[in-house]
Amino acid sequence: MDIIDLRSDTVTKPSPAMRRAMYRAEVGDDGFGEDPTVNRLEELAAAKLGKEAALFTASGTMSNLVAVLTHCQENKEVILGAGAHMSYNEGEGLSALARAVLRTLPNDSCGRLSPQDVEKALAPQTGLIALENTHNRCGGAVLTTADIEDVARIARRHGLPLHLDGARIFNAAIYLGTEPTLLTKHVSSVSFCLSKGLACPVGSLLCGNKDFVAGARRYRKMVGGGMRQVGIIAAAGIVALETEIERLAEDHANAALLAQELAEVKGLKVDPAAVQTNIIMAEVTDGKSTEVRGKLASYGVLVTCPDEARVRLVTHYGISRRDVTEALKRTNKALKP
Ligand SMILES: Cc1ncc(COP(=O)(O)O)c(C=O)c1O
Repeated sequence: MDIIDLRSDTVTKPSPAMRRAMYRAEVGDDGFGEDPTVNRLEELAAAKLGKEAALFTASGTMSNLVAVLTHCQENKEVILGAGAHMSYNEGEGLSALARAVLRTLPNDSCGRLSPQDVEKALAPQTGLIALENTHNRCGGAVLTTADIEDVARIARRHGLPLHLDGARIFNAAIYLGTEPTLLTKHVSSVSFCLSKGLACPVGSLLCGNKDFVAGARRYRKMVGGGMRQVGIIAAAGIVALETEIERLAEDHANAALLAQELAEVKGLKVDPAAVQTNIIMAEVTDGKSTEVRGKLASYGVLVTCPDEARVRLVTHYGISRRDVTEALKRTNKALKP
């Protein structure tokens, strides 16, 4: 039985074009700024997001950590949503390594922060505000330009930097049918991942103005992120930015179909209207999410459990329309009362 792996868009496999680009990549020591492939990827990423410069890092977690280190000195507070990946999954690292205090606020079901809450949470020790787009724990929900502007206005008024964890920023842009630069225009820095919907094996970029990126480069080195002849993996990133962004629409269409059909499955509750991009959160109405995960796994469909009550399914490169239909067939069998 073939495995249909819907655990995450991080389980994508590099395309043949990426493999070829990696094989042929021209490399040099990035520690000296001499890897031409990395330099090209960084220029391309900065241009895509309308920023002056970009820095290639090992992961989304490293980009966010380096962003906090660069923006926000020791013991300063970062204001962010309680469900944000940076607080939920990266909080310990940010506290321990950046010595930043996370001031979490409730986010709504779309990952938005209330501007009033943000305003109220501001204090002399506030060093940074952070948003996430698309929002992972909110099922890939999208922040609009207006949502971002609401918070950016406050940040600007108080002279604070605003960081955007845009691990899936291109999914947001594709959903909105907008230029990604409109979503990043009002933020001081933005990180995004190559190793999710863009289907690269490794990598993330952190973008901002030249001074910010120069500072970030020092912090990346400090956290062990100087990767030397890393053009070998940056080459896949160039292919991703040149060819994989538009393809995300296929993942969104597959997720929409999956959500629509899962809504009919007994034992699961899914709101297809809430599925905007490539992530589906299905509420388990009968038993625990781990039981559902186990039943699906026995039929070769892999999903994750963000909590006891929900399973998460993610569409991505390598998951075709036929895989989605097959996954639905198997889900129906696995969860048959
Ligand atoms: C919104 C968000 N930010 C950051 C990350 C971290 O990325 P990485 O796994 O590359 O460290 C993830 C990973 O899933 C994520 O979903």
